[in-house]
This record gives sequence, structure tokens and C-alpha cells, in this order.
Amino acid sequence: MLAVGALAVLPLCAVAVWGIERSFSIDPERNCFLKDGEPFQYVSGSIHYSRVPRSYWRDRLNKMYMSGLNAVQVYVPWNFHEQVQGVYEFDGERDVEYFLNLANQTGLLVILRPGPYICAEWEMGGLPAWLLHNPNIILRSADSDYLQAVSNWMAVLLTKLRPWLYQNGGNIISVQVENEYGSYFACDYNYLRHLRTLFRFFLGEDVVLFTTDGNTDKELVCGTLEGLYATIDFGTDTNITTAFRRQRRFEPKGPLVNSEFYTGWLDHWGDKHAAVETQKVSRMLEDMLSLGASVNMYMFEGGTNFGYWNGADYDSRFRSVVTSYDYNAPLSEAGDPTDKLLAIRDVIKHFRDVPVGPMPPASPKMAYGFVTLKKVGNISGLLDTLCPQGPVQSHHPLTFEEMKHYYGFMLYRTVLPRNLPEPTPLISPMNGIHDRAYVSVNGVYQGMMERDVTLVMNVTGRAGDQLDMVVENMGRVNFGNKINDYKGLLGNLILGNDVLTDWLIFSLDIDVMIATGWPQAGGVDVPPEPKSEGGRGPAVYSGTLQPTGLAWDTFIKLNGWTKGQVWINGVNLGRYWPQRGPQQTLYVPGSLLSPTVPNNITVLELENAPEHGRVLFMDRPQLNNTRAQS
Ligand SMILES: *[C@@H]1O[C@H](CO)[C@@H](O)[C@H](O)[C@H]1NC(C)=O
Ligand SMILES: *[C@@H]1O[C@H](CO)[C@@H](O)[C@H](O)[C@H]1NC(C)=O
Ligand SMILES: *[C@@H]1O[C@H](CO)[C@@H](O)[C@H](O)[C@H]1NC(C)=O
Ligand SMILES: *[C@@H]1O[C@H](CO)[C@@H](O)[C@H](O)[C@H]1NC(C)=O
Ligand SMILES: *[C@@H]1O[C@H](CO)[C@@H](O)[C@H](O)[C@H]1NC(C)=O
Ligand SMILES: *[C@@H]1O[C@H](CO)[C@@H](O)[C@H](O)[C@H]1NC(C)=O
Repeated sequence: MLAVGALAVLPLCAVAVWGIERSFSIDPERNCFLKDGEPFQYVSGSIHYSRVPRSYWRDRLNKMYMSGLNAVQVYVPWNFHEQVQGVYEFDGERDVEYFLNLANQTGLLVILRPGPYICAEWEMGGLPAWLLHNPNIILRSADSDYLQAVSNWMAVLLTKLRPWLYQNGGNIISVQVENEYGSYFACDYNYLRHLRTLFRFFLGEDVVLFTTDGNTDKELVCGTLEGLYATIDFGTDTNITTAFRRQRRFEPKGPLVNSEFYTGWLDHWGDKHAAVETQKVSRMLEDMLSLGASVNMYMFEGGTNFGYWNGADYDSRFRSVVTSYDYNAPLSEAGDPTDKLLAIRDVIKHFRDVPVGPMPPASPKMAYGFVTLKKVGNISGLLDTLCPQGPVQSHHPLTFEEMKHYYGFMLYRTVLPRNLPEPTPLISPMNGIHDRAYVSVNGVYQGMMERDVTLVMNVTGRAGDQLDMVVENMGRVNFGNKINDYKGLLGNLILGNDVLTDWLIFSLDIDVMIATGWPQAGGVDVPPEPKSEGGRGPAVYSGTLQPTGLAWDTFIKLNGWTKGQVWINGVNLGRYWPQRGPQQTLYVPGSLLSPTVPNNITVLELENAPEHGRVLFMDRPQLNNTRAQS
């Protein structure tokens, strides 16, 4: 009897216990989250796996855990995973499941923000540029082309992530739908409803879905939807009482949540370096946690906009985000604990047990010193290498999107239609140079045009001379109503009285070439650099950093260089622009360096390299030096 009774009860108990163990929900009675049936408050920090080298993910997550956080908040940038429509990339640096696994092993829960739009100061707010193939597409709305693409992507992504939901044995406790949708002009509830249906279909009825919006009524009206828990975001300049009162008006019951509490801020090229005072951050964190609010600190570890992944803002003009996403966050760009981190940890200690043991120290940095680079060649002379497939011919200029070359650089070539013995204006009448064009005639550099800033420059030459324009995409707008940000030459150019036509358009596959070993592997014989006045124009330089037996983090400074892009051992570190600032050095993760083999440095300088040709590897960053605009 006894035995049978015990057996009969056991499975029921196990199910019940299991059910209680793995649940995450909102308790409207007690105004809190419930984890495994118990009230739960999260103290979370943002980290973006796409901004930190994979080899450092574990280190950064461990430091976040040691700071006393119990969760991390993570964006999934769609365009990082589906660069080409229908081709999904989840390997290596894009292995989001490995990241979730590391967070879980570290003891961190995850607040997932899969977009589809994420803002994040990321290229096009995370949307793939191929969406722009449809010139009439209304992004972030119920536009049918847009919805179809979103549905296809979410079917792939959310199916992959469903097993990682907390109630399914993983560590994802909640999932954000869209991102600050209320600040977008469209205010399209059909779009939000479509997303709600998709997320419910692929993730189930149990998962906590939420929205995040800025702290105004308008934003909360357009950004919230029944069935999606409404949270807000705000920084140290906001009155907490007022802000949470506003959240309460839209969400009368449930936990108070600040989904983005700003620990720092971003920089644009030409801006003053941004910072937020440690004391303000720690005081306000204390106040919010005292109210029982769940808080996510944005950012906790900012990282780097490697390659071409920076976004841009468009207010009165186009302003591109710098390469560093240090963000003045508690963990620096290189993952080092700062005073801000220690102050935050001291606050968290008042609310929950912080793991025992010391905070891991800053990682060692190395000042490897100077390396002299040699010129490989100018872009016009390297086209056979950089564009092996050859140019596309077109009467009118084509955009990057039409060329399906979404990022980086293209070269537009035509000829001068007549003799121009006097300086003659080359004009972009519709402000259609997105974003910068480096202009040469018969290989001789003539100058630069820039969106919103320099729409006219003078050109001289003879009929039939070759006019080359290297056009740079400086990152697509990530916020506001100008996110349909086409790149390249968006319209005809006028030279004197002539409309320029009959272009040869070259997509520059410089990243592909460098990843395969060029130019070091090519055995290039470097000619001496001819002196030239007023700039030399786009050219490639290369050199090697001799191995020292160490592969420590370092920072590369391009003193005297003007603007361009740097690669180390095939990896694109991002843009440099010391003339504008404030960023003066680029972060070089030690994991990219070889301790034993010469390290290959390649620089694409777009305007003017210094005579000395040197770059410097330093042991500390310089992010705070804005120069007068040139
Ligand atoms: C997460 O970590 C816990 C504790 O280490 C482990 O029991 C669980 O299997 C992990 N979950 C996944 C999905 O790896
Ligand atoms: C915030 O606003 C509340 C209510 O208006 C006010 O009582 C309080 O003093 C304000 N707090 C701060 C820090 O200004
Ligand atoms: C930048 O440097 C200047 C001069 O050293 C300093 O006064 C300023 O506080 C710094 N700004 C930030 C945001 O660190
Ligand atoms: C550019 O490179 C080509 C090929 O090496 C060379 O013929 C040409 O003179 C170079 N132009 C300039 C301005 O250096
Ligand atoms: C172009 O040249 C003309 C004539 O020399 C000069 O007046 C004008 O300022 C120049 N324009 C620019 C944009 O340099
Ligand atoms: C640098 O390039 C050379 C030539 O392609 C290659 O043999 C070497 O392995 C590269 N160095 C590193 C550290 O990748």
C-alpha cells in the first residue's frame, strides 16, 4: 500500500516541483517579476556580443557576474546574421547560442532584445541594407515586403532561441519586442500586432514579452501594445519619480523597470567626448533599486564598432558614430573594470549578495611602439586586385544597394566631357553623396566632397581625362525617420554645365582580399612614395608588427594620418579619423595578434598619409581629443 501510494505521488510531485523551478512571469498583485514563484528583481547590464571578440566573451561576462549583476541584456543585430538575404550566419563571432551558453555557465540570466530593429548606434539600427532594394519600403511598419522579411528572419532566429527560454531550461527570462518603437514616426499598431503574433507563435504563451520606450507620453502611446509589458528607459538627468509614474500610467500593475539606464553615452566624429559622472550613476541606481525596480544598465560593457558596423544619427545633418563604443561604461572598451564599476558594485551590495572574491584586474596592455608602413599603391591603380570581377557600366550612377555592395567603399569612374583649363565646380545638386567622395583626375587627387557639408569642389583637366571618385559609406542612420539611408552616389553630378554620365562602377572587395592574405602575401615591390601637395588620395599601406612573444591588448594610434580604415591580420578594426576626433586610438584585441609570426597591418588612407608613414602601438586608449574641424 505504502509503496504504491508513494510511487503514485512521486511523478506528480516531480512535475509540480519542476514547474515551479522553471517559471518566469509578472505578478500584478505584488508588482514584481516572479522567478520560480518567488519575487525577483533584476540588476542587469547590457553587452553586445557583436561588439566584443568571441574569445573575450567569457571574460566580460565573468566580470559582469563579479560586479553583482544577475542578468545581462543582449541585442541581436539582424544585419550581422543575414548580410545577404536568405543566407544566415551563426558561426564564430556570430554564434549567439554559444554566447547564451557562456552567460548561463557564468550564472547570468538573459534579457533578449531580438529587434527586428534595435537602434543600438549600430549600422541601420540592425536592419539589413538589402531591405532597401524596394525603393518604396516603409521600414518598421506593416509594409508587406518589410513584414515578409521580418517573418522569415524571426522564424529562423526565434526557433533557434526557443530552447533557451528560462521555462524551457535556458536562461532567457524575457524578450523585448521592437525597440523604442514609440519614437518612430509610423506609430503603426498593425506592425506591433504582427510582431506580437510572431513572437507568441515562435516562443509560446509563457514567455514575458515587453516593450521599451523613451520617457514621454507620445512614445509610450505609440510604442506599447496590450500583452506586451510596457517598460521605460532614462538616464541620470531624469526624475525617477516622474518617470516611473509615467510607466505606471501605461502599466498600472507589475514591476517598475528601467530597461536602459544610461551609464555613459556615445560619441560622434567631431563631438566632444561624452561622459556621465560616476556619482550620479551610483546614486540613481541606489534610488531605483530601493524602489524595488528592475534595472538594466546601458551599457555595462560597450565594446567596439569593428569593421563598418557603426551607425549614424541624422538631426540637422548626418553624424556618424565613432569606432569605439566604450560608452564611458563601467567596463571599458578593453573590458577593464573602472571606478564606475566599483561604485556600482558597492551599491548592488546593499540589495543582493555580490559574489565573493576580488574583481579580476585590468588585462595587461602592451606598448609595442612604432611600425613604419609602406605604400602598396593607390586605389585607382589597384582596381584589378580589389575588384577582380570588373566594373558595372551604367548611364547614371548606381547606389551601393543597387550594386548589392552594402558596406565599405565603391569607385565611380567616368571621363571629363570637355577641357576644363579653369577650376570648374563639380556639384552634387541633391546632396546625393552618401557619405564622402574622394575625387581624382588621371590619378591626381583633387579633393573631397562630404554629405551635408561639402557639396561643391573645383576640378581641372582635359576632355577625356579619367575622373575617379572613391565613395565611402560611413554607416547607415540608426535612429529617426531617415533610416532609409541609401549609400553611394544617389543622383547625377554636374560638372560645369554638363551632367556626368556613362559610369564604370567598381565594388571594392578590399576586406575579402585582405582576409585572404593580400597584400603581404603578394610579395609587393613597393615604389617610393612621390611627394605631393594637398593630399594624395585613397591609397593602401602595409607593414608588419614583429612578434614579441606576447599577444596582449594594445591601441593603435595613427598620428598625422587623416581618415581611413585599419586591418590587423585580416580583421577590420574600424575607422580612424584623428583629424575630427575625439577618438585618437583604435582598440586592438590581443587575441588578434600572433606572439610568434609577423603581424600584418594594412591601412586604407583616404586622403593624406604622413611622410613618416608610421603608426604607433600604445598601452592606453585616447578617446578624448576633438580637433578643430579641417
Ligand atoms: C544552464 O546552467 C545550469 C547550471 O549550470 C545547467 O544546469 C543548465 O543545464 C544550463 N542550461 C543550458 C541550456 O545549458
Ligand atoms: C522628482 O519629482 C518629485 C515629484 O514631482 C519631487 O518631489 C522630487 O523632489 C523630484 N526629485 C528630484 C531629485 O528632483
Ligand atoms: C577630456 O579631456 C579634458 C582635458 O584633459 C578634460 O578636461 C575633460 O574632462 C575630458 N572629458 C571627458 C569626458 O573625459
Ligand atoms: C596610381 O597607381 C598607378 C599604378 O601603380 C600609377 O601608374 C599611378 O601613377 C598612380 N597615381 C598616382 C597619383 O600616384
Ligand atoms: C572654385 O574656383 C573659383 C575660381 O578660382 C573660386 O572662385 C571658387 O572659390 C572655387 N570654389 C571652391 C569650392 O573651391
Ligand atoms: C601575415 O601574412 C603572411 C603572408 O600572407 C602570413 O604568412 C602570416 O601568417 C600573416 N601573419 C599572421 C599573424 O596572420
